[in-house]
Amino acid sequence: MTKPSPQDMVPHRAQWTTQWGFLLAAIGSAIGLGSIWRFAYVCYENGGGAYLIPYGVALVTAGVPLMILEYGIGHRMRGSAPMSFAKLNPHWEWLGWWMVIFVMFGIVLYYAVVIAWCVCYLGFSTTLAWGADPNHFFFQTFLGVTPGPHVVGDIRSPILLALVLVWVVNWLIVFFGVEHGIEKANKIFMPLLMLLILALVAWTATLPGAMEGMLRYWRPDFSKLANPKVWIDAYSQIFFTLSLGFGIMVAYASYLPRKADITSDAWMTCLVDTAVSLVAGLAVFGTLGYMAAKTGKPFEEVVQHGIGLAFVAYPQAISLLPSFQQLFGVLFFLMLTVAGIASSISILEAFSAAVIDKFHYPRRAVVTVLSIVGFLGGIIFATGGGLAWLDIVDHFLSHYGLFVACILQCLLVGWVYGARHLREHVNAVSRVQVGRLLDVAIRYLIPGVLAILFVSDFLTDIRQPYGGYPWLAQLLIGRDWLLVTLIVALFVAGRRWRRPLDRSPL
Ligand code: ALA
Repeated sequence: MTKPSPQDMVPHRAQWTTQWGFLLAAIGSAIGLGSIWRFAYVCYENGGGAYLIPYGVALVTAGVPLMILEYGIGHRMRGSAPMSFAKLNPHWEWLGWWMVIFVMFGIVLYYAVVIAWCVCYLGFSTTLAWGADPNHFFFQTFLGVTPGPHVVGDIRSPILLALVLVWVVNWLIVFFGVEHGIEKANKIFMPLLMLLILALVAWTATLPGAMEGMLRYWRPDFSKLANPKVWIDAYSQIFFTLSLGFGIMVAYASYLPRKADITSDAWMTCLVDTAVSLVAGLAVFGTLGYMAAKTGKPFEEVVQHGIGLAFVAYPQAISLLPSFQQLFGVLFFLMLTVAGIASSISILEAFSAAVIDKFHYPRRAVVTVLSIVGFLGGIIFATGGGLAWLDIVDHFLSHYGLFVACILQCLLVGWVYGARHLREHVNAVSRVQVGRLLDVAIRYLIPGVLAILFVSDFLTDIRQPYGGYPWLAQLLIGRDWLLVTLIVALFVAGRRWRRPLDRSPL
């Protein structure tokens, strides 16, 4: 009998069946609700085509290096974020837990609710249920918005039902594991998503006035680049859209085989996400151009910010279409739903992987419990006060939480572990080599930029409470959400590993 190699003695870890399977899953995590409608609006507002300059700079200086970092660490340490960080340095395990906890018990709770809205709107599209006043329909009839976060109001039953569906789908996919669940699902989702986007763009382009809308979206206004806010927006969009600081990419890369082209995969993920964001925006702005032409209103008036764009302006435009309105609506909301699900499963996986790594509970039990808890935790966002809660929690988590997590992750890898070690590992396995600039980005540039983003957000919030919500609500909901998740992370990090950590190289 042959002697087992050290590789054989490492507990079995799931593995992507193909390089493509991994890439599609990572791209699926990146392309989400944030990439589709948020990018389009921010791009338009921040100088159209000219915005590609700050966005491109943010992508190259922060997005790609951080993606290489997360892939590299996950691949080298073969673990979820808490396990990888614990292997880098046992005192830093809490950071990995904090990331996956505030993402699982924060971001995905409301993210799933927004997907549930998309599912509802998919249904509403078949009858154009929003009628003549989509604004009133969305905020009053559908969401039943209350005066503020302190008035929770009633649970909106259509949202609740759709939320059950979203969690059942999340559960089913992650339940079957990396190869049979996540990889297979993304092999269907990603081509479907691309097809939906292309079909929508092509269809939109045939509508009168659509070209004008698309040109308005990309028309460069270089004067905007003098405004620091445009640069800040570009950097903050990069972290969310690429799912960085979520612990997802670390977990996904831990399922790669030894031979993995980390640098090319990192570039590919970042570039495909950007291309899809740009192209999907054409469908959104083309439709708005059509609406402006049809109603005779100035273009600026039909453009709306954030959720208003997808759930008010878009339905309004759908109602104005000459034919096949229902089909157009179904395609649009199906596109958002698919993009959202591919991202939400990655969050569920990042946390499940962490629990399985540490406590060795069976995957199916972990995923089932998490999906139930995820659904229950999301109910608060499905109430009349839910929109305000969602807005506050999102602001604190996807700004302060992600910024701090990414800064600390860079400090851990750049200074404690050593950026050079990461680079050596990445270069040893990748076809495309990275130079010392990676070390500079990880040690100085990204933490520096993130610190600026943090301070700038903080100063803005101090001057004017975010969204006009009362201070107390911001502190009790937003700040405390972060603090509670931090305390839980410290507690979990203090528990013993079921099996000693294997620190041998891959
Ligand atoms: N990266 C995901 C998005 O853009 C979370 O929505």
